[in-house]
Amino acid sequence: GVDGPLAGKKVVITAGPTFEPLDPVRGLTNRSSGKQGYAIAQKLAREGADVTLISGPVSLPTPIGVTRIDVETAQEMFDAVHAQLPCDVFVGVAAVADWRAKDIAAEKQKKTADNELSVTFVKNPDILESVSKHLDLRPRLVIGFAAETQKLEDYAHAKLASKGCDAIVANNVSEGVFGSAHNQATLVDLDGFTPIAGMTKADIADFLSAYIQKRIA
Ligand code: C5P
Repeated sequence: GVDGPLAGKKVVITAGPTFEPLDPVRGLTNRSSGKQGYAIAQKLAREGADVTLISGPVSLPTPIGVTRIDVETAQEMFDAVHAQLPCDVFVGVAAVADWRAKDIAAEKQKKTADNELSVTFVKNPDILESVSKHLDLRPRLVIGFAAETQKLEDYAHAKLASKGCDAIVANNVSEGVFGSAHNQATLVDLDGFTPIAGMTKADIADFLSAYIQKRIA
């Protein structure tokens, strides 16, 4: 809405998995539900931000007041994000596939007599890094997520530097986080680590909303 602490701020959020086709009926995806990104979109819209949610394939309703753009592949997500720049804040929550098939078969692939199948994958662009390192249109605040099963803080700290973003929400995905209402996270920025463990995805959205308000005030 027009009222609220984030009124007049344009926020772009990615959420959900990507789907990388192999042929017309098959593809590579992951277990991201989109719930965390959608919770953040909903919270920031309630705080008055102009929110555009760029979503991979999920089965979630669009939060009220949020503009949603549906995409399938990482390349489509990249293009949709860049078409939204400039913005004030970018939050990359999507579980973007690192790889896509080098060649997408035009027809459904038939089973063969072989017991092995090789597929060549090529690297997808890193959306978060491309926004963080944008020469002309870098948002004032760029936030990424890092799902890790080990060395959570080490990896998140390294990721902050390599991706060039302002903060990373490091997610512990070692047990029962995907698809559940719960999450476990630590925010890493240049000031250090702020643990937010044991909170729900809605609580993490509330925490991030307060953080964004503080950072762009
Ligand atoms: O490197 P890693 O995939 O662990 O980084 C996760 C963060 O980077 C998330 O914020 C995710 O949305 C973002 N990302 C991206 N584009 C990619 C890969 C990851 O925006 N191709």
